[in-house]
Amino acid sequence: MAKTTLAYTCSNCGASHKKWAGRCETCGEWNSIQEEAPLAAGPKGKTLGANKGRKIPLGDLSTVDAPLPRGLSGIQELDRVLGGGLVPSSAILVGGDPGIGKSTLLLQAAASFARNGQKAIYISGEEASSQIRMRAQRLELADAPVKLATETNLRDILTTLEDERPDIAIIDSIQTMWSDHVDSAPGSVSQVRATAHELTTFAKRRGVSVILVGHVTKEGQIAGPRVVEHMVDTVLYFEGERGHQFRILRAVKNRYGPADEIGVFEMTGMGLQQVTNPSALFLGERDNPAAGSIVFAGIEGSRPLLVEIQALVAQSSLATPRRAVVGWDSARLSMILAVLESRCGISFAGLDVYLNIAGGLRISEPAADLAVAAALISARQDRALPKDTVVFGEISLSGALRPISQAENRLKEATKLGFSNAYAPSRMKLASESGMNVQKIEDIAQFVENCFGTIEQ
Ligand code: TYD
Ligand code: MG
Repeated sequence: MAKTTLAYTCSNCGASHKKWAGRCETCGEWNSIQEEAPLAAGPKGKTLGANKGRKIPLGDLSTVDAPLPRGLSGIQELDRVLGGGLVPSSAILVGGDPGIGKSTLLLQAAASFARNGQKAIYISGEEASSQIRMRAQRLELADAPVKLATETNLRDILTTLEDERPDIAIIDSIQTMWSDHVDSAPGSVSQVRATAHELTTFAKRRGVSVILVGHVTKEGQIAGPRVVEHMVDTVLYFEGERGHQFRILRAVKNRYGPADEIGVFEMTGMGLQQVTNPSALFLGERDNPAAGSIVFAGIEGSRPLLVEIQALVAQSSLATPRRAVVGWDSARLSMILAVLESRCGISFAGLDVYLNIAGGLRISEPAADLAVAAALISARQDRALPKDTVVFGEISLSGALRPISQAENRLKEATKLGFSNAYAPSRMKLASESGMNVQKIEDIAQFVENCFGTIEQ
């Protein structure tokens, strides 16, 4: 009998080790190394090369395939994030914190696809059928021809899907599924890897779109390592701040469409409702101009989005003043504070700084730099900018403003929402200013001078 050697894998970074250890040498994480079942040996246990394989047919790049037909759910925010609908035989991972609304979204999507004439199967390993039916009833989806099952055994699920041949199969969640080929508990790295692999290969082989739900661990990764992300075609994250009703569906990887596209939803008593004009919603809570509050004209995916950036600056009682950020990168905040200090002489030493993106949104665009700087100075000086002003531009370490993309779209959206003034980088050609009064700014010192005058220390 062939000798079976056990493999050990780190559940944090995915590195494999020859023997168990308390700490992973690759990523330094403690207690993350788990035992894994060995891979099955090849025919008669021979190594690769000893058996001759089958010759695979090779094609060339010039072959023209018809454009991929896509299935539309009718939920436009979802279809757009998918890159214009669901591609047949694709595998999609929807990740998010527990309780954020993944099951609700996918039940609504399944019902929508089914009402559009596609055959949809929803398999839950987490909730009882009666619970799901009750939710469907409450969301008025009970009449949709969705097929429902509660099961965790992958072999039974694949046999059922093979037999039923649906267009879409939803597996909620991948962490509850188990395959009897693998000798470890559901949710472990090897189970998640094996079940996701079988489901994605099934999707390709049988032309079924498979949507996997994945819970995110506290480190923000799906099932520990990013084992599932590279296997699937599309990775969507469903995110939102607790206490806020907004939920954002973000494409972080998409083989069939642009990544970084977002869909905005609102969690209501009647499930998730689409928000088709998110700018109006994110600015909805603004009334009078307040010091420290600046409107940033951003772009999320293909869509312009106006958001409010709020800053608060207060005397610190700590030896190391606090820098707290929600919805933005804290390293970037430190950079902006350093640039303000060394290029404009505006010091935040001895002051606590709080930065918040309103509405629970998370921004990663560097174009928000200027708006953040404006919010910080406005808060420090206790002076508000006029209410009808939007700001955008990337700040380089020299203090110069760098040009950014899609300025026209940003201005157009701002005009639509009643704004009339904009501060934008000067090194940028604008095809149209959309009737806005655009102040072209060379560097951060000029911006401070224009908006706030001379700043006393
Ligand atoms: P759920 O979809 O079960 O989350 P997940 O699958 O990501 O773990 O969503 C659960 C939350 O959503 C729960 O806190 C209640 C809330 N919710 C509503 O507010 N309204 C609704 O109509 C539904 C169905 C859920
Ligand atoms: Mg769920």
